[in-house]
Amino acid sequence: MAPAEPLPLPETQPVRSDGVRTALTAIYNWDYEPEIDQIRTLYANALERQWIAVRDLDWSRGVDKEAFSRQFSIGGLPVSDTEFWKSLSPETRWEVSRRSASFMLSNFLHGEQGALMVAGQLVNAVPHTEAKFYAATQTMDEARHVEVFAAYVRLLDEVHEISPGLKKLLDNVLATPHWTFKAVGMQVVTEGLALYTFRDMRNQSEEPLLKQLLTYVSRDEARHTGYGIKYLSEVVPRLSDAERAEIEDFAFESARLIVDSRAGTTMRDSVLAIWAEAGVDPAEAMEQLAAERELIAQRVQQSGGRMGPISGFVIPTLQAIGLYSERLAGHFEDMFAANFGEETAARIRSHTRELPEDLERWVDEGYEDV
Ligand SMILES: [Fe+2]
Ligand SMILES: [Fe+2]
Repeated sequence: MAPAEPLPLPETQPVRSDGVRTALTAIYNWDYEPEIDQIRTLYANALERQWIAVRDLDWSRGVDKEAFSRQFSIGGLPVSDTEFWKSLSPETRWEVSRRSASFMLSNFLHGEQGALMVAGQLVNAVPHTEAKFYAATQTMDEARHVEVFAAYVRLLDEVHEISPGLKKLLDNVLATPHWTFKAVGMQVVTEGLALYTFRDMRNQSEEPLLKQLLTYVSRDEARHTGYGIKYLSEVVPRLSDAERAEIEDFAFESARLIVDSRAGTTMRDSVLAIWAEAGVDPAEAMEQLAAERELIAQRVQQSGGRMGPISGFVIPTLQAIGLYSERLAGHFEDMFAANFGEETAARIRSHTRELPEDLERWVDEGYEDV
């Protein structure tokens, strides 16, 4: 693949805030002996699998508009299968897809910037040598993710402002002085949401450059989540009950900021406003989609059912590392009930979910040659 031309600097920059005061204790480790083998292996994998955005992704093909607007979903629901979607003109379909995606991808981009800064913090704050090594590779990965998402958004639209919920989450993770809280907030909740959502979007999208980009990024995110799982599984059993409860609360608050629409600050709330800009009345669209509810449910069922990133990934991760007490399960259930109704909450409760054993393979399934 020929290297792409270096990308021009964007004409518009994300809004610069005043910054957030952060805290951590930088911990030396004078020992240098291997302590956690699994993390050393992950570090070796990360070194092996570095990639270069301008060389390895085929930027020359640009965005395929038709393919881009062929598939459209909201929160994983296949809107593009509906009569409502088919009734829109190709131009409107492109506008709705382009604007909604650039809003979502802008938030991914901002999240990546937060991840970049937190990974840098973890180099200082984690106490084990290989965990510092690993966090250094993740810092590099996240820089690359900021680079590619910024470049792709630029092909669609300008960069949208960060959602208030995501901003608060990133501020909280950057500001907490405890590395275990940072690791849960970033590696488990944020990275878990990102990995699940990126992979989902990759599977659903038919736009070749976006599919390729999300595959590369998801491979890195699989390692980042793996780091959180492996590291915290070692550490959590050594915490007191009180410490565990505090970390659980931090995990819940992090997830709540992203998915709880009661405060009106989630991404879902903003996406509807974007439809209006594209010339589609959100209230009318919702009404028409509600009339096709059964068809949507059928399609979801045909594709093997669907769970959101929290119930499909973040909760199983918390369970795997021993941070999912009955108390925490109750908090999640109340939140789901308030957002999606009692029935959904009960279904989530009764469903046993398991994390894929090999996350990197889970990402690669069907995409080995990308
Ligand atoms: Fe990332
Ligand atoms: Fe990441």
